[in-house]
Amino acid sequence: MSKNTLAVWNVKESQFPTNGSLKQKIKFLVRYGILAPSTHNSQPWKFLIDDNSLEILPDFERSLGELDPDNRELYISLGAAAKNVEIAADYFGMIFKKDGLKFSFENGKKESGKNKLFKGITLRRTDRGDFLPKQIDKNIFEKMEGVMVVDQKEMKQKLAQAVYESDIVWFKSKKLLAELEYWLHKGGTANLLEEIKKMSEDEITKSLRNKKMVEEAPLLAVIYSKDEVENDWVKSGERFEEISLKLAINRISTGFFNSIIELETQRKKLIKLLGIKGQPQLLLRIGVAVKSGEQAPRRSVKEVIISSR
Ligand SMILES: Cc1cc2nc3c(=O)[nH]c(=O)nc-3n(C[C@H](O)[C@H](O)[C@H](O)COP(=O)(O)O)c2cc1C
Repeated sequence: MSKNTLAVWNVKESQFPTNGSLKQKIKFLVRYGILAPSTHNSQPWKFLIDDNSLEILPDFERSLGELDPDNRELYISLGAAAKNVEIAADYFGMIFKKDGLKFSFENGKKESGKNKLFKGITLRRTDRGDFLPKQIDKNIFEKMEGVMVVDQKEMKQKLAQAVYESDIVWFKSKKLLAELEYWLHKGGTANLLEEIKKMSEDEITKSLRNKKMVEEAPLLAVIYSKDEVENDWVKSGERFEEISLKLAINRISTGFFNSIIELETQRKKLIKLLGIKGQPQLLLRIGVAVKSGEQAPRRSVKEVIISSR
């Protein structure tokens, strides 16, 4: 039985085995890999390591069938973990090549090292609380590909409504899903009201709260890919992690509203509203948290490592 622990967050760079073997160093990088975000904290990864390589493998036993039938969010999560490994390897001056989720290492030390994003790995977390009404400089996203930033009030309101509709669908039973998707597609307001009547207090409160959070977010951002294939999902996860680490070191928080992307009709609406030339993968809100949230626990390194020897 696997157990999650908060102790994983106490990793210290001073613990890096500078005089250890290459394999010990590779193993140390996994401590940063597991701090990546994952859909519903499912941590759908295994780290296969040997003397000079590391490969992040999907753990399909941890895939979320109903919510993520194509394993799209699973591969986004693996991409985020790969970005952490890459940044940590770079920070410790390791010499390596990366090909998707696979890294090969060589002995020796790079001169440059000290990747600036490294500090963000232990600072980042998903924030679901209130944000201050403080503006965020859009330039932080400059030159980043595959990201669309929304700061316009009217568009935020439209997206908030679309997230609200998606949340309502998700709060319904699986059986109703197809039917609800159908009426969402038809834009049936009367049916929406009927569905709201059937929702519990808690569900209504959460949906309305999410709606308000989207409306009032200092910035919203959509991470999108070219196509819908594993490699694109991995890249989207890498892109997300890079952005959220950059934000984290500037004390700026990120939160997700992914119900909208998990539903085909709502996803199409999002593409149309924003004129996205690609496939939306993540909808994020970005801002300065009133109070930063708690860290989420993880399985320990020994539970996720597969060693070839
Ligand atoms: C692909 C993906 C989708 C996610 N979707 C949501 C979401 O819709 N709502 C939410 O509150 N968190 C979402 N999360 C955040 C995870 O719940 C979070 O990463 C996990 O609980 C671990 O917590 P941490 O990010 O604070 O370390 C998502 C994360 C990933 C990687």
